[in-house]
Amino acid sequence: MIIAIDGPAASGKSTTARLIANRLDLLYLDTGAMYRAVALYMFERGIDTQDGEALQKNLADIDISFKDSLIFLNNEDVSEKIREPHISKLSSQIAIIKIVRHKMVELQREIAKGRDVILEGRDIGTVVFPDADYKFFLTASLESRAERRYKEMSEKGIELTLEQIQQELQWRDQNDTQRAEAPLRKADDAIEIDTTLLTIEEQVHTILAIVNRTNKG
Ligand code: C5P
Repeated sequence: MIIAIDGPAASGKSTTARLIANRLDLLYLDTGAMYRAVALYMFERGIDTQDGEALQKNLADIDISFKDSLIFLNNEDVSEKIREPHISKLSSQIAIIKIVRHKMVELQREIAKGRDVILEGRDIGTVVFPDADYKFFLTASLESRAERRYKEMSEKGIELTLEQIQQELQWRDQNDTQRAEAPLRKADDAIEIDTTLLTIEEQVHTILAIVNRTNKG
């Protein structure tokens, strides 16, 4: 069984997908974390991502793997580092590049092969698994997404204002929506859920009710 969850930044995809994975005993794949890991790699080595040759060469040296809820970049646990604000922006910048996307999509399909998986990202229902059994598109108002992200960041001790976060989310959504390669878009057959007024438990419940009702697994 494949469940695809797409939507803009901070729309509640990760938390929801993780909880559903636990309840249904599915593998959970956070594809955004993979783009973030690539961005971190390029950032730490000072690679000019506009330089196609350097990018290709460095991409070939990147190995990404997951263990429990941690992400490893060439065997280093980078789960915390990839959440830094400058990496958020860079991840969206490198995500427009064709060869980066191809490598990520290939890896995502490889990880999911033969398994029951819930994947979340921007292009899961449109590109990575267009034949997914279930497709959801989560949205929420910019204000509520910024507030959620602000709370998460404050808890981690990252000091950003609500306004800075709102601007960053807005910039990223625009960049992700307008790119030529696999833009952020609701698949025609995806079910849209507006999470603005929903608690996490309600989001999970809404999705589980649909999955249990139609039971294609
Ligand atoms: O989901 P998250 O906010 O961690 O993703 C970081 C960035 O990675 C997004 O802003 C987007 O540019 C990119 N991304 C993508 N396709 C995906 C997942 C993430 O382009 N499937």
